[in-house]
Amino acid sequence: MNSELFRRNQSNPTLQTHNSVIGPPRTPAGCSIKFRSPIRYMLREQRLLFVFIGVAIATLLFNVVRLTFPLELRDDQRYQAALNAFVRLDSSIPMRRVLYETHREGSLGRVNMAGKVPPGLKKRILRIVVTGGAGFVGSHLVDRLMERGDNVIVVDNFFTGRKDNLVHHFGNPRFELIRHDVVEPILLEVDQIFHLACPASPVHYKFNPVKTIKTNVVGTLNMLGLAKRVGARFLLTSTSEVYGDPLQHPQAETYWGNVNPIGVRSCYDEGKRTAETLTMDYHRGLGIEVRIARIFNTYGPRMCIDDGRVVSNFVAQALRKEPLTVYGDGKQTRSFQYVSDLVEGLMKLMEGEHVGPFNLGNPGEFTMLELAQVVQETIDPNARIEFRPNTEDDPHKRKPDISKAKELLGWEPSVSLRKGLPLMVSDFRQRIFGDLKDDASSSSSAAAATLSTLSTTSSV
Ligand SMILES: NC(=O)c1ccc[n+]([C@@H]2O[C@H](COP(=O)([O-])OP(=O)(O)OC[C@H]3O[C@@H](n4cnc5c(N)ncnc54)[C@H](O)[C@@H]3O)[C@@H](O)[C@H]2O)c1
Repeated sequence: MNSELFRRNQSNPTLQTHNSVIGPPRTPAGCSIKFRSPIRYMLREQRLLFVFIGVAIATLLFNVVRLTFPLELRDDQRYQAALNAFVRLDSSIPMRRVLYETHREGSLGRVNMAGKVPPGLKKRILRIVVTGGAGFVGSHLVDRLMERGDNVIVVDNFFTGRKDNLVHHFGNPRFELIRHDVVEPILLEVDQIFHLACPASPVHYKFNPVKTIKTNVVGTLNMLGLAKRVGARFLLTSTSEVYGDPLQHPQAETYWGNVNPIGVRSCYDEGKRTAETLTMDYHRGLGIEVRIARIFNTYGPRMCIDDGRVVSNFVAQALRKEPLTVYGDGKQTRSFQYVSDLVEGLMKLMEGEHVGPFNLGNPGEFTMLELAQVVQETIDPNARIEFRPNTEDDPHKRKPDISKAKELLGWEPSVSLRKGLPLMVSDFRQRIFGDLKDDASSSSSAAAATLSTLSTTSSV
C-alpha cells in the first residue's frame, strides 16, 4: 500500500534507505534498457530508419547549397581568378595584394609571388615597410624607395632614429610613419620588408643590452611572422660583426666567425647571428623569400653625432676643434662604405634572386691612423690625435671580400672615402653649429642625391 503512493520511476524512501545499507543502488527500469543494450534500443521503434533519413536530408541540403554558392575554387582556378581580377583592375594596384588575399595562409610554394608581373603590364607600385627607417641607413633607403615611386611605411620606435631624417616626406600620400617597437607584433599589408630596426653603434646597443638582443631576436621573429602571413619578401640587415674578431682576412661569407658569446658586444653580435638563423629557418622551413645583407662600416649624412662610431667621432671632434681619439695603437683596420653605395646594394639584393648572405662593404682598408689623417686633410690639418686604451672585444681587422656580391648582384661600391667624407662633413657642420638649420634635412637629401650621381662616376 505504501508503495502505491509512489510512481513507478520514483524511489520509495524506505527502499532507498534499505538499498543504501544492503547493496548497490538500483537503476530505474527505463535507463537499464538504454545503457545495457544501445543496439537493441536503436533497432526498436524504427529509430535507425529515422537516423538514415536525417543523414540523407542533410547531405542533400549541403550539396544544393554548395552548387548554388560555389565558395571553394580549385587552386588553378583560384590563381586564374586572381589574375583576371588583376587585369580588370587598374594596373597601379600591386599584384601581390590581389594574389595573396586569395591564398590560404602558410600554403607553401604559393605565398611568394614577388616579381611575377604578367607581361605587357606596367611596373607595379610596391608597398614596402622599412623597420628602423628613421635611422641613418633606413632614412636613405626610404629616400631611394620614394624616388622610385613605391609606397613606403616606416616603422620605428625612435630610439636612435629621428623624425628630422624623414620630414621631407611628410605629407606625401605614398609615405606613412608609424611609431612602433618591433618587439611587439604588427600587421601590415606589404610586398617587401626591409628589416633594419636595431641600434647599430656600440654606445647605443650597449646602453640596454637585453633590449638590444630582444630587438634582434623577438623583433626579427615578429617581422618574419609578418612576412609569412602576408607573403612578403624579407630582407635582414645583418652585420660584419657576425665575424667577430676574424681569424680569416678578408672575410668571405663562408667564414663562420670568431665571436665571444658572453662579451659586452654579444647582445649585438650574437643577436644578429640569431636573427640570421631565424631568417634561414623561416626560409627553409616555411618557404619565405628572404635576403641577408652583412653590412660593413658605413658612414654618411644623418649618422648620429657622438654615437661612438669612428667616422662620426673623428668628424665631430675635428669640427669642434677637439683632439681625434684613437683607441689602442691605431693600427686596427676598418673599411668604410658610403651610405649611397650600401642603399644601392640593399635594393639590388632585395630585387635579385639570391638569398645570401652577402657582404656589403667597401674593400678599401684603412687603419684608424690613416682615417684620422683623411679627416685632418678634409676638415682641419691641425687637428691633434690623442691615444686612449682600446675597448673590449674591439676587432683588429675588418675587410669585406665582396666577390660574391660582385658576381651575383652585379654590385660594388663606387664612392671613395675622400669623395664621401666631405658630404658627411657638410651635414655634420650644419647639425653641430646650426647654420642653415632649417635646411639641414633637405641638404642631407641633396648630399645623398649628389652621391647617387657620384656613385655612377667615381671609383673606390
Ligand atoms: N651603419 C652601419 O655601419 C651598420 C653596419 C652593420 C650593420 N648595420 C645595420 O643596419 C641597420 C641600420 O643601422 P643604422 O646605422 O641606420 O642605425 P641607426 O641606429 O641609425 O638606426 C636604427 C633604427 O632602428 C630604430 N630602432 C631601434 N630599435 C628599435 C625597435 N625595437 N623597434 C623599432 N625601431 C627600432 C632606431 O630608432 C633607428 O631609427 C641596423 O640593423 C644595423 O645593425 C649598420
